[in-house]
Amino acid sequence: MERVVQQTDYDALSCRISAIYKGYLPSPCYQLAKCGYMGYKEIHMDYINGLKHVSRRIHGKVTRTLQSSYPVMNYGTYLRTVSIDLELNGILSKIGKDQRVQILDLGGGSDLRMVPLLRNYPNLKFVDVDYSESTKVKSKALWETQGLREFLKLQEPQGDQLVRSDRYELISCDLNDLNQTSVKLDKVTDADVPTIIITECVLCYMTQDASQKLIEYLINHYKSGHWVSYDPIGGSSENDRFGTIMQANLRDSRNLEMPTLMIFNSKEKYANRFAPLQTSIQDMWELFNKIPQDEIKRLKSLQFLDELEELKVMQTHYVFCKSQWGNV
Ligand SMILES: C[S@@+](CC[C@H](N)C(=O)[O-])C[C@H]1O[C@@H](n2cnc3c(N)ncnc32)[C@H](O)[C@@H]1O
Repeated sequence: MERVVQQTDYDALSCRISAIYKGYLPSPCYQLAKCGYMGYKEIHMDYINGLKHVSRRIHGKVTRTLQSSYPVMNYGTYLRTVSIDLELNGILSKIGKDQRVQILDLGGGSDLRMVPLLRNYPNLKFVDVDYSESTKVKSKALWETQGLREFLKLQEPQGDQLVRSDRYELISCDLNDLNQTSVKLDKVTDADVPTIIITECVLCYMTQDASQKLIEYLINHYKSGHWVSYDPIGGSSENDRFGTIMQANLRDSRNLEMPTLMIFNSKEKYANRFAPLQTSIQDMWELFNKIPQDEIKRLKSLQFLDELEELKVMQTHYVFCKSQWGNV
């Protein structure tokens, strides 16, 4: 099961590459972030090249999807990426530049958002966490990518070690194992420092018990913070079959489970996972409808979207949830 879940990262990466390739990302409206040595598109292309040196199989899998770059999929990737980036930049820009802050990207996979964030917030430390198979690949791909290696000031890993630097850590662990997770995080984070936790399409792959224990542990362990989470929800209205169809499809095609899709099947139930924190939640369709007209016009010019109803059905089943605790 671990391997099947871990492979979902390559879907997320290929969706991101596809959205970049088609011009959805970076959004000139939302993602003004400077990336350091190169632009947003270039760092991703560079990473993909690095990945080719690490595994031709994974590289092939990621780039193959580019051939079927559906608008509905690109809109979805656009929405989740800009929503999270906007939120992170909003939180970080409110924190004084002399105040230390740390981000834990749990199940971060091949995500490269640490690059613009580390570039723009010198007070930030970024910690990526994933299964060891994923972190091994990411570590090698980052090391193979000269620009990223230099920009992140990565130290050469010895033996089985992963790349690291003073402000960037890559941690291998199974988030379902709270004991292991807490020990590993303790080594590289500081509980007194304001902490932003990202779970982008990750909690959905964990069991109810393990994800709940993880949430409870982290919001109690770190004195203050924000939790930004994005996930699918199964749907709760009587005739809504989205979740059951999704579960069946994943099971049949990949032997993949989303154990809590039908448990936290509404916005309210999903938000309740973070109780008693102050939490707000929106579905991605609500966020889509807040995009300014100019940006909508730009998006429409990229690809012809004739499946607006399909986009609506899909995006009402994905949520963006923000919680906050302590004094940050
Ligand atoms: C769909 S991918 C999302 C990757 C990234 N967050 C993104 O949105 O681009 C899910 C990621 O969560 C990781 N993951 C899921 N369950 C995990 C667990 N129990 N421990 C560590 N990583 C996990 C997978 O390995 C994978 O990289």
